[in-house]
Amino acid sequence: MSAHRGQWSSKLGFIFAAAGSAIGLGNIWRFPYIAGENGGAAFVFTYLICVIAIGLPVMLAELALGRATQRNPVGAIETVHPGSLWKAVGILGVLTGVAILSYYAVIAGWTVGYMISSAIGRPLDFGSFVADPMAMIFYQALFMIITIVVVSGGVEGGIERWAKILMPMLLVLLLILIIRSLTLDGAFKGLEFYLKPDFSKINYNVIIAALGQAFFSLSLGMGTMMTYGSYLKKDDNAVASGFQVALFDTMIAFMAGLLIFPALFAMGKDPAAGPGLVFQVLPEIFKAMPLGNLFGALFFLLLAVAALTSTISLLEVPVAYFVDEKRWTRKKAVWTVGTATFLVGIPSALSLGANRFFSSIQFPLIHKTGFLDIMDFIWGNFSLALGALLLSIFVGWVWGADRALAELRQGAVDFSWQGEGWKYLIKIICPVVIFVILLNLFI
Ligand code: PFF
Repeated sequence: MSAHRGQWSSKLGFIFAAAGSAIGLGNIWRFPYIAGENGGAAFVFTYLICVIAIGLPVMLAELALGRATQRNPVGAIETVHPGSLWKAVGILGVLTGVAILSYYAVIAGWTVGYMISSAIGRPLDFGSFVADPMAMIFYQALFMIITIVVVSGGVEGGIERWAKILMPMLLVLLLILIIRSLTLDGAFKGLEFYLKPDFSKINYNVIIAALGQAFFSLSLGMGTMMTYGSYLKKDDNAVASGFQVALFDTMIAFMAGLLIFPALFAMGKDPAAGPGLVFQVLPEIFKAMPLGNLFGALFFLLLAVAALTSTISLLEVPVAYFVDEKRWTRKKAVWTVGTATFLVGIPSALSLGANRFFSSIQFPLIHKTGFLDIMDFIWGNFSLALGALLLSIFVGWVWGADRALAELRQGAVDFSWQGEGWKYLIKIICPVVIFVILLNLFI
């Protein structure tokens, strides 16, 4: 292993960093609005199944391959199966990282804008805020620069230190806000929408949205967990760590729903409002509580930090690729990829009203409007699912489930019959289910 790669300083370091990657805007911004668009509880139910049956097995596959090879996604695949086309899966992951980060930084920028507006007590009107091109590009650039500076610091110095302090704070604040939301008049209808499934609402759109959300939220399908797993030590228990990360992540998303939907229904708003949903609901909650500005500023600060631990991981994948495979210095890789990503993200930043063309552009097959929404579907949903499909075939059949299982069992001796079950999931269930769901997209 080359000297400049680094390792986690402790087992907890990995869990916090991986949970930091998983927990982010996906849980608090994306999960509620996708759930709202897809019928509430029926989506939540489908989502949980996707996490358990598909997400978790793929998570373990990524961790196994990453730790076994100690390389970035492209290098990992090259190590196991040199000179084959499978390398393209790694490249797809690198591209997906750049593409997701490009619009993710835009939304992350909104949280900074909202943080400042709460702190100074000047509420933002969502519609006019996102239609202001200067503000959009300013906050997007700001967030990219913060990400770049942290990632330049390397694995331990940057990523680990941040995640450890701030993730637990987010949890506590979420709990306080949930109590507030649940005690609003009319909150019960929201709980019903969120938790009482009407199974007749489960259709193809709900299933693909849930599957995509599972990959997005768990940071799977583009090699993030593979990259993070590559910094694990051989005696770390990758299985237990993977489970814990998935559990934390699902818990936070679930809590975000508990926060948003009761308040949303109490205020009589539309759950299918789209990407602006939480930014329209949350300020109303803060307005209706004592010390609202303070709570608001603190919440958006923590959300920005949660987003930061995710943007760090999104940037880390392409950076690890250029450092390992192209022998770039870390600094050069971070600044080059970061700048390119910022430029790719500009149309997304302008696509909620700031620019007419990017705001109204449509994509035939998927019925999405606006550049950001289209990017999110293609990369945040489709590409991650495709990546996860190919990765499960690669690990299950090409590298071989037995070898992967042997890797997982190092440090996790009690992964016995569960391990046999995992082999079945990764070889058969994951590939078949993801394939069928993706195929449906085209017919
Ligand atoms: N999991 C992150 C979130 O839920 O916000 C987003 C993300 C990070 C997706 C890293 C994919 C990834 F590789």
